[in-house]
Amino acid sequence: MASTRSDRATHPVLVASNRGPVSYTQDESGELTAKRGGGGLVSGLSAIGPDAGALWVCSALGDGDREAVRRGIGEEGVRMLDIDAETHSAAYNGIANSALWFVHHMLYQTPLEPVFDKEFRRRWAAYETYNRAFAEALAEEAADGAAVLVQDYHLSLVPRMLRELRPDLRIGHFSHTPWAPVDYFRLLPDDIAAQVLDGILGADRAAFLTQRWADAFTACCETVLGAGAASGTRVGVHGLGADADFLRERAHRPDVDERMASLREQIGTAPDGTPRRTIVRVDRTELSKNIVRGLLAYRQLLEDRPEWRERVVHVAFAYPSRQDLTVYRDYTAEVQRVAEEINARYGTAGWTPVVLHVEDDFARSLAAYRLADVALVNPIRDGMNLVAKEVPVVADDGCVLVLSREAGAYEELGEDAVVVNPYDVVGTADALHQALTVPAGERAERTKRLVSAATALPPTQWFLDQLHALRA
Ligand code: G6P
Repeated sequence: MASTRSDRATHPVLVASNRGPVSYTQDESGELTAKRGGGGLVSGLSAIGPDAGALWVCSALGDGDREAVRRGIGEEGVRMLDIDAETHSAAYNGIANSALWFVHHMLYQTPLEPVFDKEFRRRWAAYETYNRAFAEALAEEAADGAAVLVQDYHLSLVPRMLRELRPDLRIGHFSHTPWAPVDYFRLLPDDIAAQVLDGILGADRAAFLTQRWADAFTACCETVLGAGAASGTRVGVHGLGADADFLRERAHRPDVDERMASLREQIGTAPDGTPRRTIVRVDRTELSKNIVRGLLAYRQLLEDRPEWRERVVHVAFAYPSRQDLTVYRDYTAEVQRVAEEINARYGTAGWTPVVLHVEDDFARSLAAYRLADVALVNPIRDGMNLVAKEVPVVADDGCVLVLSREAGAYEELGEDAVVVNPYDVVGTADALHQALTVPAGERAERTKRLVSAATALPPTQWFLDQLHALRA
């Protein structure tokens, strides 16, 4: 096989993901400003140190990123791929977020969708092109026998493509989402279902956030590709945990204190003069987060148990996500509509039942975590859900977690949470009532156990474990 190794092939550790650790925005004068992101991969890579020669390969996402690539502006240790905007949009919006995300989170309204037509096939070709661009860049940059950690459903074809270009590499693939059960996964056209699985099976290791998602992947391989098809790939589980040290330090800075003061004002005090109780949720406005049913459950609580009126506030932060997709914009509008309806129906001169914020503000999220009496995490389906792990770590007086059994975090936190079926609005309303009435002693005990489970595998260790397992 012809080697595609170039004289750049010096990196012993590589990470590949659609969204990179930095993004650029361009102002009117043309000046570019870099914004750095956080997350598990960032802390993992910083742990192996700047001298380790790691390289992060990611895609340019917006015009600012593309301009940065063209001007040769970049961060040490990051290579951004200038994939043509139309190809990227077809791959990212058209396939990754509209097909693969929908399948793994089981989001289709199946009487009318999905429809896998010619347009879908055109997008699929773009998805292949986009995956190939990553495989080629990685093949070019990786040192002999390097470890390559490929992230998520955007890049499911990369392991196989890269294996063909560079058989010497150790390749890992990590899924940050759930994995669909067999019957649902097979909504995909057969050849495409097979290609996705075979793409990941090009890796030495395929890893997941929970055993449940790992088992679903194995079951899909057996049914779609046949028994034994996955035997060359090890399947592993790494349950990403919360970064307690970072969160606790960050949550006690002055900007968070300021936001706590203004949130406290919005929340207000109950008729008896005590601070109102809070039900807090913080999400990106993903279709999978189930924010609307959360609001409906809260409305049911106010309806069924009028004693809570004036005494509780639902603090809901729903931050913008994937606004290029119409369904996401519609969903965001529906969240706002239902929140307004609840406020119009139940609100009084001194009480706003739902405090909804839709502009992203990390300091304000931490402020809400600190004030949480109850954390509501009720996704339809979620790979892990880090909010469920973060709130107990940060909440000033501990909190009670209302948790969907369909979140990956349920595997680790289920025993100490109040567990809900995310579709059951009446059940969720009861769970909110139960959570609000847990006695202080029990709440403290539960929080202690939640924190210990939530922080069992901090991001740095999560990353290093994968690296070690891949090299083993
Ligand atoms: C969520 C998922 C990740 C995914 C990310 C992509 O956080 O859990 O699996 O990589 O979304 O989000 P983006 O904003 O880049 O579409």
